[in-house]
Amino acid sequence: MNKNKKEVGATIKQIRKERGFSQVELSKKMGFKDHTALTKIETGVNDVNSETLMQLAKILDVHVGTFFTGKTSALPNFKIKQYDDCYRDDMIFMVLCAKDALKKIPTINPDLLDIQKNYLNKGDMFWIALNENNRVIGCVGYETINPLEARVHRLYIKPELKRQGIGGALLDTVLKYVKEKGYKKISIHLGDEKYWESKLFYKAKGFVETEPRILEKAI
Ligand SMILES: CC(C)(COP(=O)(O)OP(=O)(O)OC[C@H]1O[C@@H](n2cnc3c(N)ncnc32)[C@H](O)[C@@H]1OP(=O)(O)O)[C@@H](O)C(=O)NCCC(=O)NCCS
Repeated sequence: MNKNKKEVGATIKQIRKERGFSQVELSKKMGFKDHTALTKIETGVNDVNSETLMQLAKILDVHVGTFFTGKTSALPNFKIKQYDDCYRDDMIFMVLCAKDALKKIPTINPDLLDIQKNYLNKGDMFWIALNENNRVIGCVGYETINPLEARVHRLYIKPELKRQGIGGALLDTVLKYVKEKGYKKISIHLGDEKYWESKLFYKAKGFVETEPRILEKAI
């Protein structure tokens, strides 16, 4: 453990970032008084005891052994961040590429032109997945349907990076967030038949078709 504490710390940091938590946010969830303790864990300055590791594993939703093997999953190197306007054009480019790959004529969804107005100002949220070069490789948002139901919107993955768990990680980010906000149900309105993959994806994620093209999941 001592020998590897730098690597353990680096793995904790990597998983925290993949989950979209800042040091301050994760420290709060851990009950630390500020982010100093977490900084020391992540940089390998401090040892981390088994209780803290168990708690971190629970919050970050990984097996505790992951901290030692460093193998978080087969996921490529990416991070999920809350949306920022500086990524707008690259995100729209990625969505157009995703539509093109589905053999759809790529058209811009008007809501994507102004995420601030269409999501954030309404109290809803939007995320992007970024690769190591800060290029947008995925996105997702949600809309409040009613105080108990959130609806997923615009889940898109860069076509050449599908089936590597990025869509799942983005969906998990939404689920975790809306659950903490007190929503009890998450739903999705499927696009036309050209979006055939999404039906398989949501069913694999436990969603059930409740009416034509509407899939839901209790959270
Ligand atoms: C739907 C989409 C977001 C899924 O993203 P992804 O990163 O490929 O998904 P994941 O790798 O997390 O897949 C999780 C599971 O979903 C299921 N799944 C996803 N794509 C699938 C496919 N093409 N065929 C069968 N199952 C599929 C599998 O069970 C998969 O697990 P596995 O790869 O271990 O078998 C992606 O295919 C996409 O961007 N499609 C185009 C845009 C789109 O349809 N968006 C939804 C608009 S409503």
